[in-house]
Amino acid sequence: MASLTLRRLTKKFGEMVAVDAMDLAIPNGEFLTLLGPSGCGKSTALACIAGLERPTSGEIVFDDSAVTDLEPHQRNVAMVFQDYALYPHMTVRENMSFGLRQQRLQAADITNQVSAAADMLGLANLLERRPAELSGGQRQRVALGRAVVRNPAVFLMDEPLSNLDAGLRIKTRTEIKKVQRELGVTSVFVTHDQEEAMVLSDRIAVMRDGRLQQIGPPMDVYRQPDNLFVAAFVGSPAMNFLDATLEADGDQMICRFAGQSVRLPQRAARGEITFRADGRTRVVMGVRPNDMAIGGNDDLIMTGKAFLVEPIGPISYVDIQISDTVIKATCEPDLAPAIDAAVSLSFKPERTLFFDRETEARI
Ligand SMILES: Nc1ncnc2c1ncn2[C@@H]1O[C@H](COP(=O)(O)OP(=O)(O)O)[C@@H](O)[C@H]1O
Ligand SMILES: [Mg+2]
Repeated sequence: MASLTLRRLTKKFGEMVAVDAMDLAIPNGEFLTLLGPSGCGKSTALACIAGLERPTSGEIVFDDSAVTDLEPHQRNVAMVFQDYALYPHMTVRENMSFGLRQQRLQAADITNQVSAAADMLGLANLLERRPAELSGGQRQRVALGRAVVRNPAVFLMDEPLSNLDAGLRIKTRTEIKKVQRELGVTSVFVTHDQEEAMVLSDRIAVMRDGRLQQIGPPMDVYRQPDNLFVAAFVGSPAMNFLDATLEADGDQMICRFAGQSVRLPQRAARGEITFRADGRTRVVMGVRPNDMAIGGNDDLIMTGKAFLVEPIGPISYVDIQISDTVIKATCEPDLAPAIDAAVSLSFKPERTLFFDRETEARI
């Protein structure tokens, strides 16, 4: 096990900057997820950590030693990919022990380490089977087992769940979290799936166009996104955004949007707001659907017209037309409004976020 530090890690392919001056310090034992849309540089960053890509500039450090110029096999990393790439002619046991045999470990040690990993992953009674005789989820667990059995300093996973169907994805991600906790191994996990990132991680690092946007514990990133991109990318269904203006009024501020207004304490904003002299500070207001309820009893109220109800069981989502904008809110399934009915939505000042319209930074 080791801590992992990236210093100004940069990888270019020709003119294309895939990873742009990435700084990251991952303490020993942490589960960190690189989260971002397809093409933002997650796999490239991971491949640099693994030694499969040579960075254009910057440094990769395990504990106190730079590994930037070491070959993959000199780094003691284990990596699991989306396609599990098991050896088809080998049994589960042979697949899992392959790396250990290459390291010329004692036969008894190999047996013990494979048994321990197989127990942890629920593979103990599948050890003599070949990959063709396993389900997709079992194969991915073998791939995980083959990786962790080597006791790596750093465990790297690149979208390891994407090939599994929805139910199995949820089961296998629980396995991954359990195994990582039991081993306490420093892990970097790559995904474009924000829910997967939320569920698994100690901290999430959100990336966009090769650049880190924000690093923090899942609920911090969810509740206090640093900018519009992070706010829109994390959370499902996505956060509602409304064009609004803010105006100071004593120690309160008046927020106007779509022909309506609400009054909030100024501390609802992140810091001091510099209100413009003309009194019309233009912002983007953000509220999550799950923080906005029909028939709720929070302080702030917005009104609109229901036009679509989506029951998902525990709650229903309702699309609401407000002037020329549509937003999503929640309601108790039994209180779902009729289509076209006028509705009132209540929401909390502390769950209302404001973003600068030019810089997109949270205010
Ligand atoms: N070997 C390569 N040669 C050229 N461009 C590449 C190569 N690998 C990745 N890229 C480009 O770098 C960017 C980041 O890719 P990648 O790291 O695979 O993104 P992600 O894993 O987030 O989807 C993309 O624009 C991709 O097309
Ligand atoms: Mg990728």
